Amino acid sequence: IYIGIDLGTSSVKLIALNQEGDILGDITKEYPVYYPKTNWAEQNPTDWWEKTEKGLKELIDKFNLPKDQIKSIGLSGQMHGLVALDKDGNTLLPAILWNDQRTGKECIEIEKYFGKDKLTELVANKPLTGFTAPKILWLKNNNKELFDKIEHILLPKDYVRYKLTGDYATDVSDASGMLLLDIKNRDWSKEMIEFLDIKKEVLPKLYESYEVTGVLSESIKKTLGIQSEVLVVGGAGDQAAGAIGTGTIEDGIISITLGTSGVVFASHNNFVVDKENRLHSFCHANGKYHSMGVMLSAASCLKWWVEDVNKGTSFEDLLKEAEESEVGSNGVVFLPYLMGERTPHADEDARGSFIGLNMKVKRGDLTRSVLEGVSFGLRDSVEILKDLNIPINQIRVIGGGAKSKLWKQILADILNYDIDEINTNQGGALGAAILAAVGSGQYDNVEQGCETLIKKVNQINPIEKNVKEYEKIYKKYTSLYGCLKDWF
Ligand code: XUL
Repeated sequence: IYIGIDLGTSSVKLIALNQEGDILGDITKEYPVYYPKTNWAEQNPTDWWEKTEKGLKELIDKFNLPKDQIKSIGLSGQMHGLVALDKDGNTLLPAILWNDQRTGKECIEIEKYFGKDKLTELVANKPLTGFTAPKILWLKNNNKELFDKIEHILLPKDYVRYKLTGDYATDVSDASGMLLLDIKNRDWSKEMIEFLDIKKEVLPKLYESYEVTGVLSESIKKTLGIQSEVLVVGGAGDQAAGAIGTGTIEDGIISITLGTSGVVFASHNNFVVDKENRLHSFCHANGKYHSMGVMLSAASCLKWWVEDVNKGTSFEDLLKEAEESEVGSNGVVFLPYLMGERTPHADEDARGSFIGLNMKVKRGDLTRSVLEGVSFGLRDSVEILKDLNIPINQIRVIGGGAKSKLWKQILADILNYDIDEINTNQGGALGAAILAAVGSGQYDNVEQGCETLIKKVNQINPIEKNVKEYEKIYKKYTSLYGCLKDWF
């Protein structure tokens, strides 16, 4: 049995996969995100650990997992977050998350120091507010006392690894999002480490995603009632793990995530860098590379619309109303920048908007415009892939939003591509379990694991009439950010 743990932003999800490729059970446990100031987003790493430990116990008990058959654990997790620990492994401050936008000044400072081209050469990416290095610099600039106490820097899922095994380790796909990794050579960048004024030993040891980084500690084994050895593998950032969970492992396959964030992910057999840094260029979890565009708010726009703005009306009822609306949402266009935006604008001050309201607009139109607005945002990244001549032969969609047929049809119509439905929507947790299975020898490599487990079951085709309509509206959509930029 292989366990996959996906440490998300709103919850941790744990699944158990057996040798035949069946999912024996899954458990999800939620924890809060704190927004102490506008544009700040934090979490308590001890919440992550508490819920993961409880989740592990529940997974084993509820599904009667034979404990001596648990071979390995793989981790996936929200990327970029800064977890800073003192010499005893205690957290020095709450984790600063991937969607926290407080580091605008630090991004400018890094870019000024190195220059854009040198940075691309060193770490293949430009500084973005969500990335980890600007967060480290923010701490240095704003709380030198705490900064001086840092003995270990970890990413969110690696904090859970530390609690499981006692090891300070990470994998190259997640490390890619720190702006500290020489992506091409899959090693820490000496220059960035020097610039940040940290010791190399502060950073975790690097592994490939399918490599074993350690074993479950005796004390955790005791808590779980396990006697045999359990391996823990590197795992991956949630996007790379999610891509493994959809079989996005070679040139031409694209996966799109409709999760809290919205991601367009392209797998590459060789290193690819966008010289203009519009897309992130990162290491993939199968030993290869990938590019991706990331929207900071995707399914979270719908969550906000349903749970905050329309509190009291169910998700199902709101989506039913949206089905009654038509292509173009009665003239309303929604800009999905509720937490600022990363791709394509890299603007922490961008804001969400409903534009084009008129007397005939109903709530269903507004709900539909949220689905359309997020899909237009994803198209922005697909357009960059096209511009870079990155092949797009197949598109697969995962994430909470992928449960909605309506949303997937809108996406197919707006992108004008077929969308493949696959036999699983387990995403990052499945990717992590596959990596665990590779690490313990069940599969020879990640590709074999994906080919065995992931199958296409259906295809959603674009509807020509809608494609034409959306083509016009997309032009309007792309012009809106420029019109509103100064106002934001
Ligand atoms: C990826 C990113 C998000 C987080 C949270 O670059 O910032 O997808 O990993 O899911």
